[in-house]
Amino acid sequence: MRIVHIIPTYNEKENIGKMIDMINSVGKKYPKWENMILVVDDHSPDGTANVAKKYMEKNKNVILLLKKKEGLGKALILGYKYAMTKLGADIVIPNDADFQWDPADYPKLVKKIDEGYDVAVASRHVSGGKVLGWNWFRKLNHDVSNTLLAWFVAGVREVKDHAGNFKAIRVKKILDKVDLDRMKNAGFSFQLQILYELSKTEAKFCEVPVVFKERRFGKSKIGFNRYYFRDIVEYVNNSISIRLERSASFFKYVIVGGIGFLIQTFVSKILILSSLNPGVSVSVGAEGAIISNFILNNLWTFSHKKINSKRIVSKFIQFNLVSVVAILMQGVVVGVGTHFFGVGSWFIFMVLSIVFLVIPYSYFAYSRFIWKTHIKG
Ligand code: GDD
Ligand code: MN
Repeated sequence: MRIVHIIPTYNEKENIGKMIDMINSVGKKYPKWENMILVVDDHSPDGTANVAKKYMEKNKNVILLLKKKEGLGKALILGYKYAMTKLGADIVIPNDADFQWDPADYPKLVKKIDEGYDVAVASRHVSGGKVLGWNWFRKLNHDVSNTLLAWFVAGVREVKDHAGNFKAIRVKKILDKVDLDRMKNAGFSFQLQILYELSKTEAKFCEVPVVFKERRFGKSKIGFNRYYFRDIVEYVNNSISIRLERSASFFKYVIVGGIGFLIQTFVSKILILSSLNPGVSVSVGAEGAIISNFILNNLWTFSHKKINSKRIVSKFIQFNLVSVVAILMQGVVVGVGTHFFGVGSWFIFMVLSIVFLVIPYSYFAYSRFIWKTHIKG
């Protein structure tokens, strides 16, 4: 099994050599793992690359990529791509050069992948994990990006720690499904974006508690400098885009459902006025809504996963089966409701059953079974 450690560096001459030694000495305990170390340096003015080159003479498993100064995100995009396409990685483990994430913890991450997880994230926010020595400014930055933006705005809830670099990712059928060429993150918003992209592959996530320590040598590059505002704006933008992308199909689904609801109300009303049993009337009305929902969802809500004409009949039957449950939910609620509160209450019971039962149930069933969200394999 080949593990590629990806270390982005900018002015890390005191750290990079020790980092290489540490990864290799930990690796000796696991002879089945073949470790490679990929250093991605932006031509650091302090000569980090020269130190890396010196280590390359003794350590054949070290590779150095040199590029122009573009930010952490760009360095990681290049590193991930290179590790997969040129180095044949089975697992990639990005980490910082500065020992804030203890590289000696990496076997814990790899073991999670061995257990069947696809993404194992080193985390400060699960029990046992913590941060040492942050000042208020660093903490505020982290809380805004991690909690407010990543968790609430973007709604990425696969993990609790979105900001760190240190994680293990399975390549086969997970990272290799992510279109890295489409990722444009220059700064640290890459960390949130990659988690989101990985979530779309249906990866299984877990978090491993670790202690995030203070930097050993050198200075932090992320903080109040000339890239700060560019990176913050990018992070906010990214969080909003993720939210919009995630919820677009749900909004369309709600609108389609609204149209279905009007059709159902109209049909039900006519049938009730012709003194048909209210439970039956609402159920027949619901079938009208089902037909409309199927057509509109296929053409619009899930147009990116449109059902082709060969499967349309069988899918429509499946759709009806899913919907029969929804009809029964409404029939039962309206039947029982009107039994106790009179025929006049049919409408309120119909609305209650739609909002609290039918909408959540159907969205789940549609995206899971009818218009499958993720095609496995
Ligand atoms: N190649 C390259 N180019 N590397 C960079 C750049 C860049 O423009 N900027 C930073 N790095 C490297 C640093 O040399 C270090 O190895 C690592 O990226 C993290 O940068 P730090 O300067 O240590 O920043 P931090 O301590 O604030 O990082 C924290 O936040 C980051 C962003 O959310 C940690 O949690 C990181 O793991 C996290 O990626
Ligand atoms: Mn750091």
